[in-house]
Amino acid sequence: MIEQGAMHPDIEQVLFTEEDIAAMVKRMGAEISRDYQGKDLVLIAVLRGAVVFMGDLMRSIDVPLAIDFMAVSSYGDKAKSSGVVRIVKDLDMDIKGRDVLIVEDILDSGLTLKYLMKNLSSRNPASIEVATFLWKDVEGKQAAINPKYVGTHCPDAFVVGYGLDFAERYRNLPYVGILKPEVYS
Ligand code: XMP
Repeated sequence: MIEQGAMHPDIEQVLFTEEDIAAMVKRMGAEISRDYQGKDLVLIAVLRGAVVFMGDLMRSIDVPLAIDFMAVSSYGDKAKSSGVVRIVKDLDMDIKGRDVLIVEDILDSGLTLKYLMKNLSSRNPASIEVATFLWKDVEGKQAAINPKYVGTHCPDAFVVGYGLDFAERYRNLPYVGILKPEVYS
């Protein structure tokens, strides 16, 4: 486990430590295991940010499951979703009649997930829900979708670590933190 003292020099503040994250993932795994007993669960992670969370979450679920991946690219500014999404890598498996759970790293406006849910729903799964590790729910800002499983809420700052990047860096940090403003300005 990384100590606070070993914090990356570009990080201003650690929001969630490795221990915090492990507890959240364990709780989410228990909720999902309870709800998906006897179902045909397929976890679908959105590349690349959700990879770390996916790896932990799937190991905390104790019902049979399959995994698959999608990659999407948002048009325009990466930090601000436009809701217009292009599928760069599609699923390898057929989800018709199966219980789909989309695994996301962070929900902000929810526009990316709204698009994905609509797209996946058209393939006739038995059910479709969302598990997001972080939810940036800010007062006065309504997300376009309502995730069924949430790790934790987080402030409206640009956060990195635990799969989340800035310019493809920091994904490997085992904690979630806020970047120092001088790093991106
Ligand atoms: P929407 O607004 O569609 O956006 O819910 C979700 C996607 O936006 C990216 N995103 C972030 N990535 N730190 C990141 O590394 C952040 O604080 C952040 N906020 C939004 C991310 O790609 C997510 O899937």
